[in-house]
Amino acid sequence: MSFTVAIDGPAAAGKGTISKAVAAHFGFAHLDTGLLYRAVGRKTLGLETLSETTAAQLAAELTPTDLERDDLRTVEVAQAASRVAALPAVRQELLAFQRAFSKRPMGAVLDGRDIGTVICPDADVKLFVTASDEIRARRRYEELKNKGGRDSLAHVMAALKQRDANDAARDVAPMEQAADAILLDTTNMVIDVAVQSAISVIKKRMQDQG
Ligand code: CDP
Ligand code: CDP
Repeated sequence: MSFTVAIDGPAAAGKGTISKAVAAHFGFAHLDTGLLYRAVGRKTLGLETLSETTAAQLAAELTPTDLERDDLRTVEVAQAASRVAALPAVRQELLAFQRAFSKRPMGAVLDGRDIGTVICPDADVKLFVTASDEIRARRRYEELKNKGGRDSLAHVMAALKQRDANDAARDVAPMEQAADAILLDTTNMVIDVAVQSAISVIKKRMQDQG
């Protein structure tokens, strides 16, 4: 029987870092679903106009190589991701792959915005990871700077707030905490503590399920 962990939350809350550590700890497969939207968004960057049909076509044609590019983590690609993510036909194209992934026999952890609400409403564990705007913007700024990025803290913060607002306000699969998700506020947590906290929740659920 598979075991599914759904991790959602706003930008740079620590979802990816926690998911990777959880996957390594339990031997689960990990899918960063944001990469799917980033890969589609990146392909739209040069386009003069963007129709929903075109964006959905780009989503349908995604290949594993598209997800491995090292230029998907920029502020511009994140903004483009958020634009295509609001289009229902794009989300529909990406749904089946994510659902199938979540049922991997080895267990799976998926992180994104709608994992606990839409992709895996029956997940065994749901976490909604968050942190204050200021701390998330600073963490993302440091991360980008360490990779050679030149965006100012103010620009990173403005883009992150704008993206969270778009993601929370859209009609289709908005970012929101599932009713049965556990809130993990990492504002005052170093990453190791956040990871340990997620692992404890999962262990407890596994024990409860026998
Ligand atoms: O996946 P998501 O965008 O939610 O966040 P992430 O990429 O896992 O984390 C963004 C950055 O914040 C990374 O550099 C993490 O190492 C860092 N972070 C941290 O320093 N402390 C935390 N409690 C959570 C994340
Ligand atoms: O790492 P960070 O939290 O900054 O972003 P991400 O998880 O890579 O997601 C990039 C964008 O993709 C988000 O701002 C959302 O618009 C979109 N996304 C989504 O709509 N649904 C998901 N399950 C994952 C990402």
